[in-house]
Amino acid sequence: MIKTLLIAGARPNFMKVAPIYAEMKRRGDKFAPMIVHTGQHYDAAMSDAFFSDLGMPEPDINLGVGSASHAQQTAKIMTLFEPIVEAEKPDWVVVVGDVNSTIACALVAVKMGVKVAHVEAGLRSGDRSMPEEINRILTDSISDLLLTPSPDADDTLRREGVAESKIRFVGNVMIDSLLDHLKVSERSNIRETLGVVAGEYAVTTLHRPSNVDDRATLEGIIGALIEISNQLPIIFPVHPRTRQKLADFGLEDRIAESNVRLIEPLGYLDFLRLYSGAKLVLTDSGGLQEETTVLGIPCLTLRENTERPITIEMGSNVLVGVDPKKILSEADASLDGREREPQIPPLWDGKTAGRICDALENPLHGH
Ligand code: UD1
Repeated sequence: MIKTLLIAGARPNFMKVAPIYAEMKRRGDKFAPMIVHTGQHYDAAMSDAFFSDLGMPEPDINLGVGSASHAQQTAKIMTLFEPIVEAEKPDWVVVVGDVNSTIACALVAVKMGVKVAHVEAGLRSGDRSMPEEINRILTDSISDLLLTPSPDADDTLRREGVAESKIRFVGNVMIDSLLDHLKVSERSNIRETLGVVAGEYAVTTLHRPSNVDDRATLEGIIGALIEISNQLPIIFPVHPRTRQKLADFGLEDRIAESNVRLIEPLGYLDFLRLYSGAKLVLTDSGGLQEETTVLGIPCLTLRENTERPITIEMGSNVLVGVDPKKILSEADASLDGREREPQIPPLWDGKTAGRICDALENPLHGH
């Protein structure tokens, strides 16, 4: 039996852990998985809704760490996770993505001599001012098995001197969840509730500290969104961090008078139903760049860099930055249909969890 602790901490982790857990349960003669939720995200809308939408059981363990500064949050996760590893003595700790929970649990496990597998390894934005970039670099450098979503990630790891035997190209596990739930998401009535019709609205999400914590940047982005919304109404599910900043900077009234509609964060199925019908997505999310690529929905990424360049090379993503003029001109270009035909990157095929389990069963084979 391969005893595995699967770490889920923040919203973008849940749709990566769900297919791995399900595949391990299908291989119940080989794997004994447990889900450890660090509690980094804890609101019903940011966490519980995802467990139920994705068909995951309640986490076996919830560390309940909640929000704090980076150092405090990371330290708290480490302190609370150490006795879990001590008690459970797992064969593997599997971490996903690039959030504080990812590095915290990887660091604890590796120092206790437990093998660590990093799902979504090898992604780099090249921007060390992003907390996630630090988490990615550190997690990759201490993990035993680096499970990558795209060939550019393999190249990056090789360039960084990682041994070939540790790298395994498995594809994008988030897309397993997307393809598994696309059909069932049609039962969501979110479009009807919001009174929007497929192809006649845009969707926005924003939560990066670099975009929302700085007044001038956030004001510029919101100004551009308001202008775009004169052509195409925008639905904007608002992350708690962003909600707070919109209030701090007094931007809510301006938005209320426009066709940008602020709503609460949505669960997995409602959000899938919403963006899958969008004419255009404007976002600073990492996952949404990938999800829109698979569905062929034009995506404008409101950042200066991306750790997911394959979504630009092959997919429907355009890196726009945060200059309001550039956002407007790229939105115009997209709405005019000046787009090329997107392609789906290799191994974004809904079968990545199977390849992850194969790799954990045979970590040294495949080379
Ligand atoms: C975290 C991740 C980021 C990921 C994002 C997805 C890190 C460093 N960042 O950023 O990579 O893209 O999650 O959402 O791990 N809050 C709530 N309820 C919650 C969670 C957060 O109200 O359930 C509020 C708190 O005020 C908190 C703030 O949001 O201080 C930020 O939360 P935090 O988990 O620190 O970072 P995110 O911005 O969510």
